[in-house]
Amino acid sequence: MLSKKIEKALNEQIKIEAESSQVYLAMASWAEIQGFEGVSSFMYAHSDEERMHMLKLVKFVNERGGHAQISDLTAPPVSFGSFKEMFKTLFDHEVMVSERINDLVHITLEERDYATHNFLQWYVAEQIEEEALARNILDKINLIGDDKGGLYLFDNDVKMLTANGADKLAE
Ligand code: FEO
Repeated sequence: MLSKKIEKALNEQIKIEAESSQVYLAMASWAEIQGFEGVSSFMYAHSDEERMHMLKLVKFVNERGGHAQISDLTAPPVSFGSFKEMFKTLFDHEVMVSERINDLVHITLEERDYATHNFLQWYVAEQIEEEALARNILDKINLIGDDKGGLYLFDNDVKMLTANGADKLAE
């Protein structure tokens, strides 16, 4: 059984994961209308992953006798400047999510809720991968620069990432 404090904290995380999914969906759409197929596919896949992160929490809260709440979400931006800025936004977003997961883990220890603590280890591992992936892409785009030819190559590179198992990379 979840304590009220843990239930509330998990519900806040459900909202964060849902908002992450929306942000990446907005990025996918923004990249798609500019013809960047690789980047948009990557972002669509990433958006799906975030929805999966949210659903996993919803199921867990309900299984443990709580009530997972589906709340309204903050609307994501409509456009994202340049690809460099967009991937920097993605990286900063993932760092924020990692901090929230760490806070959650901390609360489970305070509350002596070892079942939730154990459940959250999956998210801890996930965040290490997500941050590493975002950092990797950011390094790549910094190398390539903002010129049109460079962006075309970058889009192709990201397309390869997605084709070679975005589920693995964007998980
Ligand atoms: Fe679900 Fe990208 O954190």
